[in-house]
Amino acid sequence: MSQHPHSAHPATAQLFSNPVRLLAPMEGLTDPLMRQILTQIASDLGRPYDWSVSEFIRVTHHVLPAHVFYRFVPELNHQCKTASGTPIHIQLLGSEPELMAQNALAACELGAPAIDLNFGCPAKTVNNHRGGSVLLDEPSLMRDIISAVRDTVPSHIPVSAKIRLGYTDTSNLDDIRKAIADSGANWLTIHARTKTQGYKPPAYWEKIVGFTELAMPVIANGEIWNNQHAQRCCEQANTPHLMLGRGAVTRPDLIAQVDNPDTELDWQALITHQLAFLHGDAKTEMALIGRYKQWLAMLSKGYAEAKVLWDDIKKLRDKQAIIEQLQAQRDEV
Ligand SMILES: Cc1cc2nc3c(=O)[nH]c(=O)nc-3n(C[C@H](O)[C@H](O)[C@H](O)COP(=O)(O)O)c2cc1C
Repeated sequence: MSQHPHSAHPATAQLFSNPVRLLAPMEGLTDPLMRQILTQIASDLGRPYDWSVSEFIRVTHHVLPAHVFYRFVPELNHQCKTASGTPIHIQLLGSEPELMAQNALAACELGAPAIDLNFGCPAKTVNNHRGGSVLLDEPSLMRDIISAVRDTVPSHIPVSAKIRLGYTDTSNLDDIRKAIADSGANWLTIHARTKTQGYKPPAYWEKIVGFTELAMPVIANGEIWNNQHAQRCCEQANTPHLMLGRGAVTRPDLIAQVDNPDTELDWQALITHQLAFLHGDAKTEMALIGRYKQWLAMLSKGYAEAKVLWDDIKKLRDKQAIIEQLQAQRDEV
């Protein structure tokens, strides 16, 4: 496996002295509440995430006011860490280098420990405004955005990029690699699919290999649902560094299983965390219930018990009633 001397940037060298395990940014899924719960579980299991990345904050016409950063990343009130102490890096999405740089600076002034730049978002509204994955078709603009941010934020703050393998196909992967190499990025995360491939399996981990020749750490991402996937991904991508996405929501113990397949969070223990979720902050009770049901639907793919609970609560509209069902399931044993 390739190892690079990251001597040029001490903070980066320190962060990557061991294989990193990251919780992916997922808009509408790993929001602050979900980050709090999943990072708590990871810490309780003895394998905390090294960090997570915020949902993307879209930069369009101006420098965003502080309250926007606090809304997306309330962890800024606590040294930009979740309650269990996991750092949150702030992700920006946009296409105007200088504006991105000024927003990144604003995020740093509020306490962001690192800035990540999104070049993977497949959303039409974002792509139509020349943001997210469509910039993979404009590698020199992508390079200019990263460079502008790198040149503007304090030198001790890392700046990273998150990309896919291409927009419609992988034909300009060499140009993308060159752009990243020239950009000054401190590290790179690769979701091993094109935008056109969306979120459908498989992920093409082997396509990451070329990037591991760059003088920066490379984090592999995509379609890791269990320990074997993680092993295979590391081998095929030639990097020890992983970011976990939907698999980490479906099996919150995946983070620990990656390094120790025998570690397991059983359903009973998970009920406590679901109750904590249901007591978390949300705009409205309806919103919280919607978010919880979204999580439970995903948990159904990882836990047989979740399916049973789903049938019991799917029609419930009242938070207290859902809490009581969960408590009843817990007390049955
Ligand atoms: C609902 C959802 C929202 C996402 N939002 C973001 C985002 O805000 N920023 C980003 O860089 N990637 C985002 N992603 C992509 C994930 O970070 C990750 O790259 C992708 O899900 C592949 O990993 P997985 O197969 O393990 O889920 C999102 C993915 C999903 C499913």
